Amino acid sequence: PVPVIIDCDTGVDDALALLFAVRHPGLDLRAVTCVAGNTDVDRVVRNTLTVLEQAGAPRIPVGRGAERPLLEPARASGWHGGDGMGDLGLPEPARAPADVDAVSLLRRELLASPRPVTLIPTAPLTNIALLLRTHPEVTGNIERIVFMGGAVGSGNATAVAEFNVWHDPEAAAVLLTADVPITMYGLDVFRQVVVAGEWARRLRASAEPGARLAGRLLGHGPDGPEEAGCLGDAGAVCAVADPAGLTTRPLPVEVCLAPGPARGQTIVDRRTRPGESEVHHGRRGQALVDVALAVDAERYARLFLETVGGR
Ligand code: BDR
Ligand code: CA
Repeated sequence: PVPVIIDCDTGVDDALALLFAVRHPGLDLRAVTCVAGNTDVDRVVRNTLTVLEQAGAPRIPVGRGAERPLLEPARASGWHGGDGMGDLGLPEPARAPADVDAVSLLRRELLASPRPVTLIPTAPLTNIALLLRTHPEVTGNIERIVFMGGAVGSGNATAVAEFNVWHDPEAAAVLLTADVPITMYGLDVFRQVVVAGEWARRLRASAEPGARLAGRLLGHGPDGPEEAGCLGDAGAVCAVADPAGLTTRPLPVEVCLAPGPARGQTIVDRRTRPGESEVHHGRRGQALVDVALAVDAERYARLFLETVGGR
């Protein structure tokens, strides 16, 4: 199996990502690290521990990470309810997080893994930026980074910025300039992978706690429990388990760091030839990111149901 670490802000759809990663036979979830995003970091840690317990994986190490972005204050998302998990009344976890912080845990697990690890951040990129800056020696132990964040088209936190990048734009900029292969699983594909209300209902009726939780989380969507639920962050994990379902193109990506209405926007350069201003002065040299441009949404929805629901 592919060794993976998920860095998350659990989070309704981060929880779906964890449930899928624990269950997929092609993935070896070696650790989970937590960061402030959808809710405060202590709540994220408790939510993550609870989800892993429900998934029958109570021993995967969980690290508590950054309480706030590099420059911005922490600004919880309004989308995931008061507890960051859709207010489903889930139990508190039985165990505490690891006694090392998220960045140290990432470093430890990266160095301990017999094979380079795929990192899957599904949250603001604060922990990942701190890791890359404080322990650059681990870069060689990272196979690639497949992150949920950014958008080619319109945003969700603002008209142009996606929540994870908008929450900590400087951290996203550190990631995008890192010397590792990067895949951007942005909002354009994120929104497309949905599970029909009927399937979510069947999951809720399952005898298996992880499948039941997935069904309840999918029912948290804006249209109510009977309508289709979005896989969200779990789609990024599907993309690691089954890369053939995703169409990507290597493109230059830059984060807007300027204050104002475009802050946090991922500017994806889809042009095929130099612009008018660049013909004489040259194009800015930027690293390329594999940007997800299309997804086989049915394939990932089926993969999720087969993996988590045993369908
Ligand atoms: C991202 O923001 C959060 O609300 C979700 O968990 C996802 O990671 C989508 O913009
Ligand atoms: Ca998330």
